[in-house]
This record gives sequence, C-alpha cells and structure tokens, in this order.
Amino acid sequence: MLLSRFETPRSNPGRFMTQRRTTLHYVEAGGGPTLVALHGFPHDHTLWQAQLGGLAEAARVVAPDLRGFGGSPAPDETMSMRAYATDVRNLLRGLNTTPAVLMGLSMGGYVALAFAALFPEAVRALILCSTRATADSPEARARRLALARRVAEGEAAAVVTEMVPAMTADASRRADPEMAERVRQMMLRQPAPGVAAALRGMAERPDRQGSLPALRAPTLAISGSADTLIPPEETEAMARAMPNSRFVLIPGVGHLPPVENPEAFNKVVLEFLARLPA
Ligand code: MLT
Repeated sequence: MLLSRFETPRSNPGRFMTQRRTTLHYVEAGGGPTLVALHGFPHDHTLWQAQLGGLAEAARVVAPDLRGFGGSPAPDETMSMRAYATDVRNLLRGLNTTPAVLMGLSMGGYVALAFAALFPEAVRALILCSTRATADSPEARARRLALARRVAEGEAAAVVTEMVPAMTADASRRADPEMAERVRQMMLRQPAPGVAAALRGMAERPDRQGSLPALRAPTLAISGSADTLIPPEETEAMARAMPNSRFVLIPGVGHLPPVENPEAFNKVVLEFLARLPA
C-alpha cells in the first residue's frame, strides 16, 4: 500500500553513538532489508516522510539526520562527504545492518558515493536522486564558500530563503502549497553551523566520475524533469558511467521528487527493490 504524502508514517526515533562520540539522530520504519535514506541540503530526515511510510512494506527504512542537521549534534567546522559517510557507516554498524541499500538525494547522493568508495562491502545497492558525480567548478566553489561566510556571519535565514524557490518546480508548488511550505520550514529550521559546515564540505568534495565504472552495485538513478539545481542530464550522465544502473526521469517535478511526487518516486523504488538479487 502506498501512503499519501499527508499520512504520518509509524516510525521509531532512535539515537546512536558513533565512534566519534557524536549522537546521530535517526528515524526508522518497516522491516526487511535495510535502506538508509540520506537527505539533501539543507534538509533533515523529514524529507523522507512519504518514504518512511510508503517503502516500509519492502524495507527497514532508516533515515538519519546528517551531523549538524535536524536532531543530530554540532558538526565540525567543515563536514566533508567522507565524514558524513563515516557517521553513516558507524550508525549501520551499531544497528548491525549491512550491507544496506543507500538512497541519497542531492548532497545525500554525494554522501552515498563517498560511502560506496570508502565501504564498498557495505553497499547492497544505490538509489541516487537529483545528484551528480562531478565536483564544483571553481566558480561554484567560490559561491559556496561565500555563502558559508554569510551563514557564519548570522545570515543563515536569508541565505536559506534564497535557496527555497529552486528546490521544487513551480507547478508542484502551485499544485500543493502545503508541501511547499513544509519544505520551506524544514530548510529554515536547520542550524547555521550545520548549514555552513555542509557548504564548506560540498565545496571541497572530489570529482568521483573516474570511480563510477568500478561501482558494480545495482543502481537506480532518478531525476525530476524540471530540476534546475542539478539538471537531469547530469544525473543521467552519472548513471550511464555506472555498469549496473538504470535512469528514470519523473516528469513535471523539480529537485525533490520524493516530496513533490512521492507516489511516482516510491513506485519506481519499490520496483527496483523487488528486482534486487536476494
Ligand atoms: C542539495 O539539495 O543537497 C543541494 O542542492 C546540493 C548542492 O548544492 O550541490
């Protein structure tokens, strides 16, 4: 059964001590093979509300707040994708649930790719949504570092507010203003140190295109056709470089397919999970 985007999933909040003595907050629902859902920037686990409900019939869905976001603790000054990935690995070790399916949206996809490079034995499959394997251009890096400085100087709300309109498609916002408001609130409640640390970490993330041909895990790549932040062509190019991958375009939605059209997103993911080798 697919739950509508308005239904609240039954989920178990948990906390887990990582080896670095940081406490990662996570929520989980369902049972079966573990699927870790990694949110984007600047988001938290509530991005996956409709997946905690709609995928729970097929998987144990674990949705952490990456360090510095949601209920997870203060980050280092710069949070590299590697540092987030190591936190996730520690969380999975503690839950005794590897290998797992890693599902990452945008920055969560950067973290999933870092995880796959560091801990390939812990990856059962990848679901990479609205993301890419390339590094920032020098201009994009400079823009991010300038944003991080503004956030550190007390302008977090203004910086995040500027990001809100590009997150979802105009049509999605018109069709579902409540959804758009939930996304805006989720973004605005993220703590400034976490936002700044993620911006610095994304600015320094490496280009991972060279490692894609060696990623043999079954991979599903998904984009929204109206994504202007990471155009679908970039996600498709990443998928094409991976030997065991499939690319799906969800029409009419922007950067957040799991939120803008959870029914379509969950359907594609459930089909992918059903076909995974046991
Ligand atoms: C995200 O949604 O995580 C961000 O758009 C990623 C980025 O800024 O590269």
